[in-house]
Amino acid sequence: MMEFIPVNQPLLNGKEKQYLNECIDTGWISSEGPFVKQFEEEFAARVGRKHGIAVCNGSMAIDAAIAALGIGEGDEVILPTFTIISCGAAIVRAGAIPVVVDCHPHTWNMDVSQLEAKITPKTKAIMVVHIYGLPVDLAPVLELAHKYRLKVIEDAAEMHGQTYNGKPCGSFGEISTFSFYPNKHVTTGEGGMIVTDDETLAEHCRSLRNLCFQPQQRFIHEELGWNLRFTNLQAAVGLAQLERLDEFVTRKRCMGQYYTELLSGVPELELPVPLTDYAENIYWVYGVVLKDDVQFDAAEAMKKLRQQDIGTRPFFWCMHEQPVFHKMGLLQNESCPVAERLARRGLYLPSGLALTDEQIERVAEVVKAIFK
Ligand SMILES: Cc1ncc(COP(=O)(O)O)c(C=O)c1O
Repeated sequence: MMEFIPVNQPLLNGKEKQYLNECIDTGWISSEGPFVKQFEEEFAARVGRKHGIAVCNGSMAIDAAIAALGIGEGDEVILPTFTIISCGAAIVRAGAIPVVVDCHPHTWNMDVSQLEAKITPKTKAIMVVHIYGLPVDLAPVLELAHKYRLKVIEDAAEMHGQTYNGKPCGSFGEISTFSFYPNKHVTTGEGGMIVTDDETLAEHCRSLRNLCFQPQQRFIHEELGWNLRFTNLQAAVGLAQLERLDEFVTRKRCMGQYYTELLSGVPELELPVPLTDYAENIYWVYGVVLKDDVQFDAAEAMKKLRQQDIGTRPFFWCMHEQPVFHKMGLLQNESCPVAERLARRGLYLPSGLALTDEQIERVAEVVKAIFK
């Protein structure tokens, strides 16, 4: 019986225990504890932002960012169709209308050349989402946002430690969001962060995170918020993880390069792009796409790998193919052929920070064998 290789396993062997013990010893376990502010400040500084607002996860970070920007009923927000449901859901929950663009076949990120055609008088914002390891080509997005006076929301959930032309991901547009789910470079179990340079937006996000309690009259509400609070326990783990972010990025790059070295001779696979004009891949996850002449799809490939004790995940399923949005009368009759193909033919291999080179070698051997 072979050892099962999970799709993700985090690395928690830094100062996580020490900082968690401090929480227990001092009794500071709630969101009022001192690590929360320290983590917010250090994380925001790391991505070159003035303010960080830690929240319960990366999905709700997007909801709060949209609410803070005042996006609502009837506004249109342009986003990539190839992304996680959190992005589309947050737009729809705000009462706004999602407008999708297809993605680039090699970088898997939104095809920025399609953006301008989607802008209408109702467009309020562009949501950029960096996918799997390479950032979106941001310069044309920022130019369009300036030209049409649109807000930019940057979902940098997967992009800890990545840069675009040398500037940190998470520092672009009005507001950016991150996730700290255990498959992220920095994890806190569950968790997320909103970062911005705008003091007013930051204050609004802090209020939305805390049920919009008012400083003077706590239980009288002018606006509805949520309880999105982040605990001192989460921040303790986050601080220990953040200390090692550079090391984690280096390791992930080595892992990605090793997978590519081992799989580059496999004619059935398209592999991630290692480098673009503006960034080097950080391989948040190591995705592969089955070429069109392979007789089976990603779901079948995943089944074959699971039989050999290799855990995988499918690629995202397009926003414009989500039954939940169709039932609401949204995103029907859209065609985004590049994203549709990726959703059906893409999967990612074990990519967690605890993965060893020996495990990568075994995964690569099994992947090769499924085509024999
Ligand atoms: C691009 C993107 N946005 C948002 C999220 C949601 O983050 P969370 O799982 O912390 O809610 C994820 C999660 O992986 C993601 O990949």
